Amino acid sequence: MAEQAPSPASPPPARLVVPRPRVLVVTGVAGSGKTTVARAVAERLGWPYAEADDLHPRANIVKMAAGVPLTDSDRWPWLVTIAHWIRDRVRAGEPGVVTCSALRRRYRDILRAGAAAGAAQRPGAEDPLLFVYLRGSPELIGRRMAARRSHFMPTSLLDSQFAALEEPGPDEHALTVDVDRPPDALARAVTDALAAGDQ
Ligand SMILES: Nc1ncnc2c1ncn2[C@@H]1O[C@H](COP(=O)(O)OP(=O)(O)OP(=O)(O)O)[C@@H](O)[C@H]1O
Ligand SMILES: [Mg+2]
Repeated sequence: MAEQAPSPASPPPARLVVPRPRVLVVTGVAGSGKTTVARAVAERLGWPYAEADDLHPRANIVKMAAGVPLTDSDRWPWLVTIAHWIRDRVRAGEPGVVTCSALRRRYRDILRAGAAAGAAQRPGAEDPLLFVYLRGSPELIGRRMAARRSHFMPTSLLDSQFAALEEPGPDEHALTVDVDRPPDALARAVTDALAAGDQ
């Protein structure tokens, strides 16, 4: 990336520039900070942002509000909707940030398939998909969930979230971020890694 010489006449760019467009999927259990961190990252980069919570079919929201864990068949249409969002970004050669708990590898496989479908229509394109995994202990995340208000995910679902969690493996393209720091520090860790080109 070319560095511009600082000049008093030209203020620094308002937004970070990273080496290539990426599509980030910010993952982790409920209450790990996906929405908070994804928004901060999207803001720092000036990239479009999508909230997976908003892409759930209504029936899923009703179930979660009642404290009933979703089944995989509840999740498929939701994951496919997110995969299509990713595909469309990749196909257009545009960056983006989307939240999705993506707790299991097979859920991430669906999202990867979305990126692959988009990349297939852009010959020579590098794989742009990067999972950002927000890692935290059940105790820390439980405390944050208990303090959060006006949200459809009750704390009682947290145990099932940790039971389902399959952390990204070494063969998955993922950046793991420990969430025991303030949101701004986490967002900076993500954008620094992107700007350094090491992710
Ligand atoms: N790094 C952090 N430090 C302190 N508090 C945080 C941090 N990240 C998020 N929070 C707080 O923790 C709570 C959960 O965060 P958030 O809603 O972003 O999680 P989420 O992963 O999007 O949850 P869900 O899966 O239910 O949508 C919020 O009250 C948020 O303000
Ligand atoms: Mg959220």
